[in-house]
Amino acid sequence: MFFAIFWLLFIALLLAAFLFSKTTKEFPKSWFEWKTEFRYQYLGIIGLIHDAQYAARDRVALYKQPDRIAVITGGNRGIGLRIVEKLLACDMTVIMGVRDPRSAEAAVAGVVDLSETKGKLICEQLDVGDLKSVQAFAQLIKDKYQKIDLLLNNAGIMFAPFKLTADGYESHFATNFLGHFLLTHLLLPQLRAGGKAGRNSRIVNVSSCVNLIGRINYKDINGTKHYYPGTAYSQSKLAQILYTRHLQTLLDAENAHVQVNVVHPGIVDTDLFEHSATTSVPLFKKLFFKTPERGSRTVVFAAIDPSIEGQGGTYLSNGGKGPFHSDAKKPAKCEQLFQFSCDLLKIKQYGNGVY
Ligand SMILES: NC(=O)c1ccc[n+]([C@@H]2O[C@H](COP(=O)([O-])OP(=O)(O)OC[C@H]3O[C@@H](n4cnc5c(N)ncnc54)[C@H](OP(=O)(O)O)[C@@H]3O)[C@@H](O)[C@H]2O)c1
Repeated sequence: MFFAIFWLLFIALLLAAFLFSKTTKEFPKSWFEWKTEFRYQYLGIIGLIHDAQYAARDRVALYKQPDRIAVITGGNRGIGLRIVEKLLACDMTVIMGVRDPRSAEAAVAGVVDLSETKGKLICEQLDVGDLKSVQAFAQLIKDKYQKIDLLLNNAGIMFAPFKLTADGYESHFATNFLGHFLLTHLLLPQLRAGGKAGRNSRIVNVSSCVNLIGRINYKDINGTKHYYPGTAYSQSKLAQILYTRHLQTLLDAENAHVQVNVVHPGIVDTDLFEHSATTSVPLFKKLFFKTPERGSRTVVFAAIDPSIEGQGGTYLSNGGKGPFHSDAKKPAKCEQLFQFSCDLLKIKQYGNGVY
């Protein structure tokens, strides 16, 4: 028995070494990093089971909303591309914030007949990991539109090697969280103007089930003392949930017709896994992961479904409520991250659109 377990562990280690050698992801070097990897694998398996278990619930009814304007970050590939496809099918005006607007339009044209759709597509330059770019993108929208109805904070990276952005923030924290935190602050006046009683404007933050193992390292938010990509990703995904929950509290206090929800889209076969060992087993992804189309459903559900009108601050997964980090159930923890982020960006009054 002992030898069987020993050999199993040995083979698992060899397999892990082989898979890691095929990716740009760093090989775990300490017990803490191994523990993080095991927890990721565990959450991945639970996520796949959850996706299979709730497949029937994971749907969204598309309906025509030609008067609505949606802003999305990313959208040129992966889950975002399928979100854009659905929003255009609702005849919305969709403004994509992307790093390469020209190729983004071509990508959308690959899945939507742009000459036929009654929706309108606008592609603008945005690097959400660069605060100046976020400012410029928001200003462009403010100049053109008095109101917007939906903001989908979708763009993201996972397991990227350590890198600081031009503003000096670790790339996961900057791209997945801080850039979106600023964009939301800048566009809140337009979102307030878009909402009305019975028809809130909506913000959707695309997080991940790995928020469950996230921890906000306030003493070293960039993780410079001990960087591990998995830790950086789960920290950024937890930050999205903490900020969502506190923002909804603030919006409720001012009776704004705006709701903010946060979504785990499922375990989805996209390029997000480019730095992951999973990328070496494409057949496994094809067989067990959601397609990007399925991955887009709960995100669009959070953006348009009438059944969740007025239910802001909710964490959604597979078309229903999902389990999330216990810290996000504690208002003080949510406020701490929110205030910390305002302090980093020197925002005095969050949501007044001024920066
Ligand atoms: N796939 C999953 O299993 C899964 C699970 C949980 C959560 N999520 C979340 O779902 C969201 C979408 O991921 P995905 O799976 O669709 O990944 P993906 O296929 O890799 O797409 C990522 C998108 O984000 C954009 N992006 C990345 N960095 C950006 C930046 N600095 N500025 C502007 N856009 C940037 C990419 O644009 P470029 O083409 O310019 O790089 C692309 O459009 C992410 O927030 C991710 O964390 C995904």
